[in-house]
Amino acid sequence: MTRTANALRIEPTIVPLRRSNAALGAMPARATQYPELRYMGSKTRLLPWIFETLNTLDFESALDPFSGTGCVSYLMKSMGRRVVASDFLNFASTVARATVENSFVHLDGKAIKGLLDRTPPAHDFIERTFGGIFYTAEDLRFLDRVSGNIRQLQDPHQQALAFAALFRSCSKRQPRGVFTISGDLSHYDDGRRDLRLSLEEHFLEQIEVYNAAVFDNGRKNQALRCDLFELPRRKVDLVYLDPPYVPRSDDNCYIKRYHFLEGLSCYWQGLPVDTTTKVRKIAKRYTPFSYRRTAVEAFDRMFARFKGSKIALSYSSNGFPDLDQLESLLRRYKSTVRVFEKPHRYHFGTHQGVERASVTEYLIVGS
Ligand SMILES: C[S@@+](CC[C@H](N)C(=O)[O-])C[C@H]1O[C@@H](n2cnc3c(N)ncnc32)[C@H](O)[C@@H]1O
Repeated sequence: MTRTANALRIEPTIVPLRRSNAALGAMPARATQYPELRYMGSKTRLLPWIFETLNTLDFESALDPFSGTGCVSYLMKSMGRRVVASDFLNFASTVARATVENSFVHLDGKAIKGLLDRTPPAHDFIERTFGGIFYTAEDLRFLDRVSGNIRQLQDPHQQALAFAALFRSCSKRQPRGVFTISGDLSHYDDGRRDLRLSLEEHFLEQIEVYNAAVFDNGRKNQALRCDLFELPRRKVDLVYLDPPYVPRSDDNCYIKRYHFLEGLSCYWQGLPVDTTTKVRKIAKRYTPFSYRRTAVEAFDRMFARFKGSKIALSYSSNGFPDLDQLESLLRRYKSTVRVFEKPHRYHFGTHQGVERASVTEYLIVGS
């Protein structure tokens, strides 16, 4: 469904692409096989709809500065575009380095042998710090060992692939995929295979999953780790924006939920853990999109920054500011603003239980 500011209905027209399946108007099959990571705000389930909308736009290059799981960047890579994926979290940008930036490198037999090397690790930080919190002692020792082994890999894309496989393993082995709950998690155990496998067994499977995700789209794609407002200014045709939004209740802190993956991505170098917290958190990262008092100004600054490109903003009816306010902000910089809408039901694990909500998802396109 689409509408414009003057209520004129515009049916999306599918712009034929030169490459892949997309020429037929179907989402490239590759994008449907992207390894899903349970992540707050992930657009995985909305990809077919996002594809339909993006496919109406004329663009050769795209920036995804809130890349998260990387699924939208990977979609645009699958559509044959040149993509820059970026996120201020190191673990998220590492996943994008493995899947979006990386075109050719795989974890081959030699690399896998090195990763599984059982020489006792030089460091035991994870075993010492996270005992009895998220995983078994055997899992923790594996994490210390594999962290050292990953650093022995010389190729940065092999390292990124191994990390991506490790993050997904850690996420699958957690009952909710978030690191807010700890201790005796047996009441979450519903017999799922994901909870029965050790981290090492998961890791071996995930290596194959990420190896299969590597492909070349003939473009030089890039993954960055950067705050939105510090990104190098380079001309791109389209900027896809998926910032966190100020929620009605709870909070939207990514570090609170994924601190373990962020710490693991750099072996907690420069990220001191707060030992007074039950789950051994690290410090939050400030983002102006999380607070009512700063969000409106942050959207305005963001739109101003990307006014030279087409803008596609993902948004949700339960966010602040509301749709009308966002549309008028965007109209300051763009002469045409169209809003694509889709009813969506999402569920997401929180510490209180599984949250379910019916919302309308928006793609607000300014050109
Ligand atoms: C809604 S999620 C993006 C989800 C992503 N599109 C997907 O489908 O997986 C928002 C992301 O923005 C990142 N983020 C928040 N504030 C940021 C900032 N100021 N600069 C860069 N990234 C930021 C978070 O780390 C998070 O990964």
